Amino acid sequence: YVIGIDLGTSAVKALLVDREGQVRGEATAAYPLIQEQPGYNEQDPEQWVQGTVQALRELVRESGLAPAEVAGISFSGQMHGLVLLDAERRVLRRAILWNDTRTTAQCREIGEVLGERLLAVAKNRALEGFTLPKLLWVRQHEPELFARADVLLLPKDYVRYRLTGHIASEYSDAAGTLLLDVAGKRWSREIADAFGLAESLCPPLVESQAKVGTLLPDIARATGLAETVGVYAGGADNACGAIGAGILSPGETMCSIGTSGVVLSHMDASPPDTEGKLHVFNHGQADAYYAMGVTLAAGYSLTWFKDTFAPDLSFETLLHGLADTSPGAGGLLFTPYLAGERTPHADASIRASFIGMDASHKLPHFTRAVVEGVTFSLKESVELLRGAGCDIRSLVSIGGGAKNEHWLQIQADIFGADVHRLESEQGPALGAAMLAACGSGWFASLRECAETFVRRSRTYRPRPEEAERYAGLFRIYEQVYANTRHLN
Ligand code: XUL
Repeated sequence: YVIGIDLGTSAVKALLVDREGQVRGEATAAYPLIQEQPGYNEQDPEQWVQGTVQALRELVRESGLAPAEVAGISFSGQMHGLVLLDAERRVLRRAILWNDTRTTAQCREIGEVLGERLLAVAKNRALEGFTLPKLLWVRQHEPELFARADVLLLPKDYVRYRLTGHIASEYSDAAGTLLLDVAGKRWSREIADAFGLAESLCPPLVESQAKVGTLLPDIARATGLAETVGVYAGGADNACGAIGAGILSPGETMCSIGTSGVVLSHMDASPPDTEGKLHVFNHGQADAYYAMGVTLAAGYSLTWFKDTFAPDLSFETLLHGLADTSPGAGGLLFTPYLAGERTPHADASIRASFIGMDASHKLPHFTRAVVEGVTFSLKESVELLRGAGCDIRSLVSIGGGAKNEHWLQIQADIFGADVHRLESEQGPALGAAMLAACGSGWFASLRECAETFVRRSRTYRPRPEEAERYAGLFRIYEQVYANTRHLN
């Protein structure tokens, strides 16, 4: 067996997978998000470690595993979070997470200091969520604490350190720091120097499938696993989500609709130039990259809508509205900018809208408009990826958006591409398990592993008439941002 650990923002999940890729057990442990001020999102790294140990212990106990039956463990992790350790390897402060937005001033500073070099080297624009702005924030606001910082780690890298005693990071997560030379696959001395940062703050880098160590004796004892279990580096949650969906060859694309939505394409051996409109990160597969766009309020738009206007209905009942309405929602159009938008606008202040209301519109029309609006927003990422050279003829759809067959059909019609659904979907934890499986030598490559581990079920094809109607509506959708951005 192998175990994939997904260190998420609300919980950690441990997934036990056998050699055929079948899931044999799962355990989770939740931890709180600490929000002391508006825009602040922090977590206590100790709770990640305790949660991970608890989930592993439960997984071992429930599945009745003998310690020697697990060959390897690997990780998927929430990206960008800053964990700072002192020279004694003690955590200096709570981790500042990817969804923390306190760093607008630092992002401006990074843009001013690095200019075009930022995109040339780090391949991404400075966004509040990324790690370097957080580091500069700590230096400015907590200088005494910063002076004691010896090394910075990303969330799953810290948990791996506590399990093995070895400090390391890997390229897919390092790419989300803005400190990595993404194409050169090394920490960027140029960027570190530009901000007067010691290069030694950055941990050694390895590939996602590399073995970092084995379990420390007290962790083995606490979890019921053997000390000899190999622990492999793992990857960023988006990279692992892509691996778990089989996105391992150039052009292959995934659409993931959870609270936020992601459209992600595998890119060839060199990172594309997307002028910073898309995120570009190293994949968890050696020498591959992916580009992705993010819709901040994807599933969240639907949750907000349900909680506000139909709190007594289940999602399933609410989504029956998709069967009773036709494309275009009777002339009603929704933009999902409830919390601003990342792709393509990178504008935190824009707000959402319903446009084209008619006195005859009922709940099903509004529901359909929300689903279509979220999908139009993701289509903007699909189009940017196409513009970056990706020939997207099909996508794998995962997450909440892949649970409803009407929504899957809407995705096919709006994206103008075939949409595949997976037989069983385990998200990033499966990608982490696949990294452990390859690291343990079960397969020669992730692609070979995916042939066994990732199985597609149904395919939804675009219907010409509906696709044409949506293409017309999309042109109107694209104009809403520019025409409403000054409303707030
Ligand atoms: C990616 C990002 C999120 C986090 C969520 O840029 O910020 O997807 O990785 O865990």
